[in-house]
Amino acid sequence: MIFVGVFSLGPLSRLVHDLIMDTTTRITLIGAGRMGSALAGGWLKAGFAGQVDIVEPRPSTEVSAWEATGQVRLNCEANPADILVVAVKPQMFGELAAEISSHIGPETRVLSIMAGVSMATLSDKLGTQNVARAMPNTPGLIGRGVTILCLPGDAEADLEVRLRTLLEPLGSVEGPISEALLPAATAVSGCGPAYGFLLAEVMAAAGAKHGLDPDMAMRLARKTVEGAGALMASSPEPAAILRKNVTSPNGVTQAALEVLMHEEAMPSVFVEALRAAIDRDRELASETE
Ligand SMILES: NC(=O)c1ccc[n+]([C@@H]2O[C@H](COP(=O)([O-])OP(=O)(O)OC[C@H]3O[C@@H](n4cnc5c(N)ncnc54)[C@H](OP(=O)(O)O)[C@@H]3O)[C@@H](O)[C@H]2O)c1
Repeated sequence: MIFVGVFSLGPLSRLVHDLIMDTTTRITLIGAGRMGSALAGGWLKAGFAGQVDIVEPRPSTEVSAWEATGQVRLNCEANPADILVVAVKPQMFGELAAEISSHIGPETRVLSIMAGVSMATLSDKLGTQNVARAMPNTPGLIGRGVTILCLPGDAEADLEVRLRTLLEPLGSVEGPISEALLPAATAVSGCGPAYGFLLAEVMAAAGAKHGLDPDMAMRLARKTVEGAGALMASSPEPAAILRKNVTSPNGVTQAALEVLMHEEAMPSVFVEALRAAIDRDRELASETE
């Protein structure tokens, strides 16, 4: 069960237990697309006993089934939530802000998973200071993601536990970190799945250049990236040790790594790539202000 891990938090487990089992807690989710549904599905699986309200103009079959079985209420009249999770596209936020505000009362805590919408913009457009942000990544859709949490400076002590608990259906939760570092963290984990897919692509293309059948090269590259990820997930060793473990001195892997790890190759290319992502993140954030 998704929330089982948090029950081992010792003194914190009471807070988590209260959040899950308290029948009076009310969570409202705005936007049940891919991420929003992954979150809400996790809350339901974990046996969240409170009220889950979902606002979604075009609910999926899955979301409609939750409503039909009485597990959630869908598009019901706005009332202040205890926790309001905003999971709509960032481009829609401006036009939806007034509607979203109708679910906010003085005690409501807002958690936004929208990329590039700052806490200042959230506060400004939603008319509350009680805002927090989280940045999930795509593997969260299968519960294998990592989400970065950002809290306001004056957040009460139990808010972190409550929000972590709500985000755990997507995978592990890191932070809280300062919002100033969120673009850098996003450039690593938010964008990172694409780097992993790119690795499979370029490995396959290089294999084809060296004579392999392109389809066979893609199967080899894909399974290798999948397998390396699974191996890393199953091992406590740092990535560098796992790499060294498969690199015999003066062997063929070392020959390839000397090219890839040359100062001007992957190390500096990644610094540059992350710089570009961080700059773009800041540009997009200024567009949603
Ligand atoms: N997917 C990721 O890997 C990822 C990673 C990090 C952050 N995020 C953030 O997560 C958020 C959601 O992403 P997503 O991939 O789940 O997007 P998505 O699948 O497009 O989900 C957004 C949902 O909001 C719905 N919506 C539209 N108008 C609405 C309204 N008036 N009230 C309530 N809901 C409304 C959309 O419905 P329609 O489709 O019918 O318009 C859609 O179902 C985004 O802000 C994104 O930045 C996503």
